[in-house]
This record gives sequence, structure tokens and C-alpha cells, in this order.
Amino acid sequence: MGTILRIRKKEFFKSIRWKLVSTYLILIAFILLLTIIFIRDYLIKSNVSETQTNQLAQSNIISSQIAPFMNNVNNAYTRSYVEDIIKQHSLDSRSRVLVIDQEMHVILDSYDDFESQNLDLVEVDNALMGINSANIYRYKTDYIMYTAVPIIFQNEIIGVIFMSVNADFIFENVQNILDKLIIIFLIALFVSFFISVFFAEIISTPIESLTESVKKVTLGNYQTKVEVKGNDEIGALGNAFNSMSVKLFQVDDRRKKFVSNVSHELRTPMTSMKIVSDTLLSQDHWDEAIYREFMQDINSEVDRLNNIIDSLLYLVRIEKDEIELDYSVTYVNYLIEKVIKTIKPIAQMKHIEITFISNNKIQINLDQEKMQQCLLNIVGNAVKYTPENGMVNVSLTDRRDTIAISIMDNGIGIPEKDVPFIFDRFYRVDEARARKTGGTGLGLSIAQQIVQLHQGSIEVTSHMNQGTDITIILPKH
Ligand SMILES: Nc1ncnc2c1ncn2[C@@H]1O[C@H](COP(=O)(O)OP(=O)(O)OP(=O)(O)O)[C@@H](O)[C@H]1O
Ligand SMILES: [Mg+2]
Repeated sequence: MGTILRIRKKEFFKSIRWKLVSTYLILIAFILLLTIIFIRDYLIKSNVSETQTNQLAQSNIISSQIAPFMNNVNNAYTRSYVEDIIKQHSLDSRSRVLVIDQEMHVILDSYDDFESQNLDLVEVDNALMGINSANIYRYKTDYIMYTAVPIIFQNEIIGVIFMSVNADFIFENVQNILDKLIIIFLIALFVSFFISVFFAEIISTPIESLTESVKKVTLGNYQTKVEVKGNDEIGALGNAFNSMSVKLFQVDDRRKKFVSNVSHELRTPMTSMKIVSDTLLSQDHWDEAIYREFMQDINSEVDRLNNIIDSLLYLVRIEKDEIELDYSVTYVNYLIEKVIKTIKPIAQMKHIEITFISNNKIQINLDQEKMQQCLLNIVGNAVKYTPENGMVNVSLTDRRDTIAISIMDNGIGIPEKDVPFIFDRFYRVDEARARKTGGTGLGLSIAQQIVQLHQGSIEVTSHMNQGTDITIILPKH
């Protein structure tokens, strides 16, 4: 149990699902983190600047209120009046207010602490030069904001209003907002997790099912199909897989049939020879005439075997993909005439007339030897499957981009149900009639293979007892 869990866990972390979910989550978390940093920065800056503006405005108000009394501030009455003003402001804005003279001496302090001390600070220095200034400082855990503005009377800087205020509230406010934001972002991250799991599922489920199917095909289960949903890249992959498994199934089926056909075809002559030789061996003495007859039977079976093996070897050789056609520019007319000349003696024995009609001479690029073999097989069939006194007409026509060689006979014809199979290896219509005529059933397979190597095609039309028309179509270029 433990082992299974460990393997599952290991597989999970290697899975595309996990990679998608983790990448997506890391991305979202990174974006949220950047957003938080940006918002925090922005909030601090804007709050600090707002507080600075407020403090400076406050300082300016105090400055303008007390400016007329500055010259007289040593007078007890005036001093207490000014003191009231700064204490009131100090209370209102919860800040400490100091009035400083040109020599940086503290004249008044709302907290009554710093009076008659020197306050040599940058802000005070700036204010004495006529510049309003405000800065924030950190003392241990606290933030403090200093602001200083000049006190101007009759266009002359006669002192400084210095204010200090605890700025912790700025950071506390920002932190409060951030706390809420972090909760919202955590919820967003949580929701993102489910969204990413959902999308990872959409992507990885079909891939997993495809992997399962590939495994099944590897085990020889060629009829395996995957369910294709949608027409995206994954759908296209599924469709490609399904076409591949159909193709594999066909190839495997053809291979099985081929092996079984070859064994069967080789066994038939073997069985005949076995029977004949057993018969010969069963008695001590036979007449010489019987010996001869039996030996002739064996001899013809050996010929048949040789024929089958030769045809098979030829077929296998031309089926090899790497086969190179030996192209040469050829007058098709002459090629056909040559084939007819070869077959004529056999035709004459059956009193079959072979004619050849062609309107003009046609020259195309082809492998002479192979095309001759192809024509021999087809014209040979026409003669073979036409009874005595029949007719075979060969014609050559020039079409636009192709040429057509038609071989027509008025022989026994092919039943409609057999037409689709006559190009299959070892296929022969009606075994009984085939046995009488002899043959291996490989002739048309070889012919078709040769035509296909030339990028051409073969068409068949046939009517029982009326005749057959086989047309070879070859591209001119
Ligand atoms: N012109 C034709 N007329 C009638 N049947 C034909 C004709 N051509 C082919 N066939 C049928 O198609 C079958 C397949 O032909 P194919 O040439 O492949 O084999 P085959 O002639 O029997 O043997 P071989 O390998 O010696 O040629 C033949 O057995 C025959 O039944
Ligand atoms: Mg044949």
C-alpha cells in the first residue's frame, strides 16, 4: 500500500497536471505579491505626502497668526497670548509646536520642554532660508514627521514654526488596508487553484487517455480508438492516432492474410507431391509408364512452386519502398506491340485475335522492364480468361495529363462481387476455374504495384460472360 502511494505521489509530481497547476499558482502568487508591494508603496507615499501637506498648512497658519507678535514676544502678556495660540494648535493637531528665533533658539514649546534650547535641524535651517520642509524619521519603533516653515513679517524671516507629529498612524492605516488585501488575495489564490486544476484536467485527461491507447496498440490491440472532443490541437492528435491505428490494423491484417495465403499456396503443391510419392512408394513395382506419369505430375507441381516463389519474390522486391524505378523516355506504342508479340503464340493456340489501336504515338517516362511485366500480366489474363475464338483489343489514348491503356476482352468476365478483390494477393475468382487455368493469383497484385509506383491507377469494368475491360492510367509527367 505504502509503495503504491509513493509511486502515485512520484508520478503525480512528474505529471503535466502538477506542472500546469504549480506554474499557474506560482505565476498568480508572483503577480499578487508584486501588486501588494506596489499598492503598499503607493499608499505610504500618498499618505505621507498628504500628512506633510496638512502639517505644512497648519504650520503656515500658526506662522501667520503669530508673526505680528514676534517682535514683542518677551513681553509677558504677548508671550502668553502666543503661547495660547500654539498650545491650542498643538492640541487640535496632536502635534508638538515650537517657535524658534533666527539664532535657532527655541522661544516657545507647546510641551514647555525645549524652551531656550538650541534646535539645529535641517528643517529649521531650510525654513530660515525661506524653504518649507517636511521629513519623516524613524526612532526605534516609531515614525515621526518634522515640518518647519518660516515666520515672515514685513518681508523678513524672523523665525521658524517647527512641528513634530507621530506618524505611526500612516503605517498603521496602510497595514490595515494591506491586511484586508492579503485576505482577498489569498481567496483569489484559492479560487485560482481550482481554476488551474480544472484547466490542467482539460489538457491532461485526453493526453492520459491517448497514452493508455498507445500502450494498448503496443500490445497488439490495433483496433483501439480514442474519443475525440473538439477540434483543437489535442483533437487533431486524437484524430491522427485513430487514423494511425486503423492503418496499423489494416497492415497487420494484410500481413496475417499474406502469411496464411503463402503457407496455403505452398502447401497445395506439396500435398500433391506427397500423395504422388506416397503412392509410388506404396508398391515395389510399377509400370514404367505409371512412373513417368507420376513423375510428370511431381515435375509440374515443382514448376508451380517455382512460379509462386518467383512471383512472390518479385512482388516483395517491388514492394520495398526503396525501390528505384529505372525511368527512360519510351514510346508506349512500341512497348505494347512488344508485349502483344510475346503473347501472340499463346493467343494463336486458342485462336484469339489480339488487336491494337492507337491514334498517335505517345512518348512518356517509365520503367520499361516493369511496365512490360505489368502489361504482360494484364494482357496475359485477357487471353487466359477468354475462350477459344475470342478477341482481345488493346487501345492507347492520349488524355490531357494522362495516357490510358485499355485491355478489353470478350471472355468469361468477373462476377461483380469479386471485382474489388482481384488485385489482392492470391485472389482468384472461383478456385475451380482458376485451378483449370493455372496461376498463382499474384499477377494483378504485381501489375497494380507497378502502376502505383508510376503514380498511376487501374480501373476495372467487367460483365459475366461478356468480357472485361482493364484500363491503366499513367501520368505523363
Ligand atoms: N481478363 C480477365 N477476365 C476474367 N477474369 C479475370 C481477368 N483478369 C483477371 N481475372 C480474375 O482475377 C484473378 C486474379 O488475376 P491474377 O492475374 O492476379 O491471377 P491469376 O491470373 O489467377 O494468376 P497469375 O498469378 O498466374 O496471373 C484471376 O484468377 C481471374 O479469376
Ligand atoms: Mg494472371
